[in-house]
This record gives sequence, structure tokens and C-alpha cells, in this order.
Amino acid sequence: MLGDVHLHHLPRTPWSLIGKRLLGAANLLRGRRKRFQPHLMAMAINRILALRPDQVWLTGDLTTLSTRREFAEARSLIQPLCERIPAVLVPGNHDCYTFLAAWQRRAIHAWGSLVAMPDQAPLMRPIIGPWHLLAIDSCAPRLITSRGRIRPATLDAIGKLVSAAAADRPVRERCLAVLCHYPAVVPGGIAQHWQHRLAGAGPLVDTLTASAGRILMIHGHIHKTWLIRGGEARRVDGRPLTGAVRGLVDLNLGSPTMVGPQHPNGQGFWLVEFFEQAERMPTFEHHQLDETELWQVRRHPEPWADVPGPGTTIETGNRPA
Ligand SMILES: [Fe+2]
Repeated sequence: MLGDVHLHHLPRTPWSLIGKRLLGAANLLRGRRKRFQPHLMAMAINRILALRPDQVWLTGDLTTLSTRREFAEARSLIQPLCERIPAVLVPGNHDCYTFLAAWQRRAIHAWGSLVAMPDQAPLMRPIIGPWHLLAIDSCAPRLITSRGRIRPATLDAIGKLVSAAAADRPVRERCLAVLCHYPAVVPGGIAQHWQHRLAGAGPLVDTLTASAGRILMIHGHIHKTWLIRGGEARRVDGRPLTGAVRGLVDLNLGSPTMVGPQHPNGQGFWLVEFFEQAERMPTFEHHQLDETELWQVRRHPEPWADVPGPGTTIETGNRPA
């Protein structure tokens, strides 16, 4: 599972900077260009190909300004991965950055048959055993803000899909992995400014928890990595969650290309293994390049356990175990 890639190119022509792109181009010049290093995505792809997972899931923001050039480069970058391993992708807000890019549906047309993705309707498919995948398009072009949204029709469709998948199953077999660019919950202390939030996050969580027994929310958008349980999560405005959130787990994939003092070679990617048996919970591995470009693999404690154990570093090196 891979989060925000943010390939970037400053537009060459002044008329390309009309509207919100002017703001985005200013951000690129202010330092975003240095913070996102595309070669780290190529290293992650090589590692993922060596690990040979059954599927690849991407949470969007492959581009920065939604230009045709960025989409073409993003497609070339992920092609070696997605033509070998079946991939599901949801768009990010930077993939529908302008009204023109959204109107031309670049975030849909750019990939052709390379990936499966939700279009107007959410995409739902079985994964293995009790687990289903629900992929949601949560993005809309905005003039100034980077807010996402869940349309009423999308929420209605999600409710129907989730309750149909849950029908005639005991609660422990209603297991749902939800792929959405925006977080619908956040850890305590990370309240999002309203300009960056998912509008409709609360109703989305309520709809999911009404039918599903175990829910794994998978997203990017905030360039940090975390794996938290429902009890540790808050609404995106920082207020406490209400309702049946015990079965909820939230995974932020972070950005494989963003460098910083804590992650000098990006925030890596996540390998999640799902199992056929309902009683066997998924395992979570975070693969991240250290400062010497060796892959560190950290196994996280099982998040649905009553008492989660400690996480462990299980491998350091460049050959997958
Ligand atoms: Fe984003």
C-alpha cells in the first residue's frame, strides 16, 4: 500500500498558472520540490516487486498540479508495478487540482486499464475470506482549499454496498478495508484545519460502523504514518468519536517520496497480509528506507487484539526475507 507520491513539474507557460495552480506553483518554489523525491518511489516499487504481493493499493496524490505532464510521468513510474500486480487506486485532491483537470477527468483517463478505481460510484470487491475492499473517490476541485467531500449519493451507495456485504454474516465476519485519500478519523492531537478536511467524514464513519464489524481505514493526505485503534482516534475536527468504534483501525500510509529529519529517505510503504480465516487478524509491516538506504521493516502489533503486544523490527537489509 502506497501513499502520496506527489510527482511535480512547474508549468512552462504563464496561462497554465491561471487559478489554483498559481498557489501550487508558489508552494513548489517555496520548497515542496526538494521535499518530494521521485527516485524514492522507484526504489519502493523495486522493493514491492521483490516482495510479490497479490495486490497493490494506492491512495492517490500521484501528481501535484494535475498537469498532463505530471500524469504522464506518474503513469510511466507506476507502470512497471501495476502491469505486473493488480492495482487499485483512488484519486487524491492533487489529482483533481483544477476545475479543468477535473472536468477533463484526467485522474480517471490517465491510467487507462492499468489500475482499477472508483469513478462516480464506489468500488467494492472481495479480497479474501471475510474481507472486502471498498474504494472511494473523495475528491473535488476547489478554488482555494484542499477539502475533500463524500457526496450524498456516494454515501447512500456505500451504505447499500456495506449492508449487502454484511447480510447473513456474523459480526466477526463483516470485515472491510476502506481505501480513501482523506482520513475520516485522526489520532488525538492532530485536529485538521477545516480547509484540509474531508467534508462528510462523520457520516461516513457512522455508515461504515453501522454494518461492518472490523473496519480498516487506509488513507494518505496527511504526510505522516500511523496505525491507530478506534479508541485512540478522534473525529477530523479533534472531537471524540461516538458510536461503535471498537472495531475501527486507521492506517495512514504517509508519503514514500517525502524526505525530512525523521525520514531522510521517505516514509516508505505498508505490507498488509489478510487471511482466509475470520479469527486470524491481518498483519502490518511498515517498510522504510533508513539514512543509509537500507530497508527497515517494522512489524506492528495486531491492532484488534485486546492487549496489543509491542512492535518489533524484523529485518534490516535490501533483500526481502
Ligand atoms: Fe492530499
